[in-house]
Amino acid sequence: MNTTKHIAILGGSGKLGRYMVADALTQGYQVTVVCRPQSVKKLDPWKGQIEILAARTDDRAVLQTLLPKVDAVLTVLAPWGVNGYASNTAQAVLDFAPLDARLIFSCGWHITLDGQDQYSKGLTLFVAIFGRLARWLRFVDLDDQVRATDTIFATDRKWTVVRGSDLEEGESEGLPIWSEHVGDQKIAHNRLRRIDFAKFMVAAIKNDSLIKTAPAIASCCIEPLPKQI
Ligand SMILES: NC(=O)c1ccc[n+]([C@@H]2O[C@H](COP(=O)([O-])OP(=O)(O)OC[C@H]3O[C@@H](n4cnc5c(N)ncnc54)[C@H](OP(=O)(O)O)[C@@H]3O)[C@@H](O)[C@H]2O)c1
Repeated sequence: MNTTKHIAILGGSGKLGRYMVADALTQGYQVTVVCRPQSVKKLDPWKGQIEILAARTDDRAVLQTLLPKVDAVLTVLAPWGVNGYASNTAQAVLDFAPLDARLIFSCGWHITLDGQDQYSKGLTLFVAIFGRLARWLRFVDLDDQVRATDTIFATDRKWTVVRGSDLEEGESEGLPIWSEHVGDQKIAHNRLRRIDFAKFMVAAIKNDSLIKTAPAIASCCIEPLPKQI
């Protein structure tokens, strides 16, 4: 029987994070969110239903107090800035969460667990150009998300690294399908509702078959190909 009750959502005020908050409450979890002080207001719809700690997700003092008390941690890995935000967040989760806690992290398709992913030219080019430009502007450091996940992959913890494809808004289409590798035909449509990304993250808490995997997820509803005339 899975007895998980109390979960932490790090980065819970963002777009993905708020969907995770809503779904986790629906599933009956006790939820504590860590989010930047300026973003606390974004969680007003759940006032009184969740605990909120106003702090950056890499704030070690806050995580050292919170994480030993939780059964699972959902982390939005966001490589903002050039000071190791994602890797410092991941390290703090690994340092302070209980050894048997389920640790679920979000990231993009560009992350690879075993180097067997097959990327389209478009995605490779986007990562190369956007990655260099964003780092040059000191805005985002995509390599930091790579460092964060490499650190997670090297541990013997109960981690799952969920790799999302191109995100869009809209009603839920159902739990996403997934593959071990980007490039597999069944996820080639490269489309995913953000709400369903969140549902997959929350559902992973109770899915032990996802431990030590990095599922590349995409919508369960593949758009039909245009009719051949
Ligand atoms: N966007 C995509 O197309 C896409 C595709 C595949 C995978 N993903 C993955 O999905 C996850 C979330 O993506 P998302 O697009 O949905 O974004 P999101 O949910 O809005 O999450 C962004 C997170 O970063 C925080 N943040 C924003 N600006 C920040 C800053 N300057 N400094 C520190 N924190 C900042 C946000 O917190 P605040 O509420 O405080 O702003 C939020 O927690 C990420 O792990 C990403 O790698 C995204």
